[in-house]
Amino acid sequence: MIRQLCYLSTVSEPLDALALAHLAESARRYNAAMQLTGMLAHGGGYFFQVLEGPRDNVCAAFGRICRDRRHHDIRLLQDDTVAGRDFAGMCLALAELDVSRLAAPERMFDARAIPALVASLNHDLPVAARVRGASIAA
Ligand SMILES: Cc1cc2nc3c(=O)[nH]c(=O)nc-3n(C[C@H](O)[C@H](O)[C@H](O)COP(=O)(O)O)c2cc1C
Repeated sequence: MIRQLCYLSTVSEPLDALALAHLAESARRYNAAMQLTGMLAHGGGYFFQVLEGPRDNVCAAFGRICRDRRHHDIRLLQDDTVAGRDFAGMCLALAELDVSRLAAPERMFDARAIPALVASLNHDLPVAARVRGASIAA
């Protein structure tokens, strides 16, 4: 079984495209070695990440992510055991976060909004990104 978690966090310092690419590059190497897949959406001063894989590996990665000072106010939105991956084959897909989806405070914390958000982000990824986990400029 696969553990899948998602969180929303606040960006500590604005990240430019290069800084984001560096972050994603090192995260992908780690994720690939730990059989982790997922996506990272960034925009409007927020990160939204889905991380999925073997239970202990997800736990270890999330622990490190939580200690990372590049973001704070990490809000765990969902932590479930799921039958299959939503981001199979993608070590860490990058997407642009449309903050209008998060604008209302009640949606920001409403776990019921997550599947639709994840589905829409995944759907937005071009086929190449789905296959290779390539970064995209959405
Ligand atoms: C928003 C965000 C998402 C991250 N996602 C991942 C990830 O999916 N996998 C990962 O290994 N590291 C991720 N990182 C980076 C880790 O927090 C950490 O900096 C990196 O793994 C290197 O850790 P180390 O300096 O202890 O070696 C993320 C960091 C941030 C700020």
